[in-house]
Amino acid sequence: MQIKKLQTALLSWYQTNGRHSLPWRNKTLPNRPYAVLLSEIMLQQTQVKVVLERYFYPFLKKFPTLKALSQANEQEVLRAWQGLGYYTRARNLHKLAQLCANTGLPTEVRDLIKLPGIGAYTAGAIACFGYDLSVSFVDSNIKRILTRLFVLRDPTQKQLERQANTLLNLQDSFNHNQALLDLGALICTAKSPKCDICPLQKFCKGKNMLNKLTQSKPSRITKKTLHYAIFIKAHKIALVKSTQKLYFNLYNFPEILKKDSTNLQNIGILKHSYTKYNLSVHCYLCDNSTILTQNLEFFTPQKLTTIPLSALALKILKLLKTKGAF
Ligand code: ADE
Repeated sequence: MQIKKLQTALLSWYQTNGRHSLPWRNKTLPNRPYAVLLSEIMLQQTQVKVVLERYFYPFLKKFPTLKALSQANEQEVLRAWQGLGYYTRARNLHKLAQLCANTGLPTEVRDLIKLPGIGAYTAGAIACFGYDLSVSFVDSNIKRILTRLFVLRDPTQKQLERQANTLLNLQDSFNHNQALLDLGALICTAKSPKCDICPLQKFCKGKNMLNKLTQSKPSRITKKTLHYAIFIKAHKIALVKSTQKLYFNLYNFPEILKKDSTNLQNIGILKHSYTKYNLSVHCYLCDNSTILTQNLEFFTPQKLTTIPLSALALKILKLLKTKGAF
């Protein structure tokens, strides 16, 4: 049967070309379900390379178990997440740990999906990669593969999930699903897919009309200019604890209005992007707090290494260092 042949071609490609050394694919990893949960949450909005090189191991070292994570305070968790962005992920993970500290992480998709920060894809991935259950799931990579393979036009989530389930290899779901993720990341890419070396080419109904099937959406990038005050007093620097949803409890530099910046010395302009914003960030030295109405807190360089800073605050600090300003 065609599906069986397709599954075999996919697995044999994965055997030789797959990213087997990714640590969350190692079945002997201690506390595997927890490590898989962590990897899946980190990978939701961040590239494999960044998670692998800078965040996965240090986080696990600091919080080796769900129990350890549940006992940490939120500031410590945010600190370990510092620079990864999308901090709601870290807060939800912390809440999840507190909810499951005594019972352990559930194994079934229907229970996993009820937990904070866990959607259908992540629940499926934890059940399969953490507990070896035979379940299918669909992320944006798998969606692209299915859409092309079966020529699906504007498929609903339900249709995609049904297709993924039809394709699932019940004999080796773990490797089948990891292989699909790798195929999407390495071969069946959004731009310039490598059909000539694709193991599924002869099964692919959409191979000659890929662009029609999966055009990338026009981006909704918004440009914005922001102004920040750098206020240094007695070798301490002023920061504010954010109350904005996206940055809640993270430290940022105090934002000021453009009209208040006119008499201040501009010490640099940075580019920064987050979510849909392309920011142009103007930084000004400020020598008294009259324009700063916010709740300022002052930190020594030493103390800065212990608090959670936004990625933008980290960038501004780097700029100050290169200018010898702090
Ligand atoms: N992205 C999400 N889950 C992944 C996994 N298990 N391997 C590689 N990339 C991923």
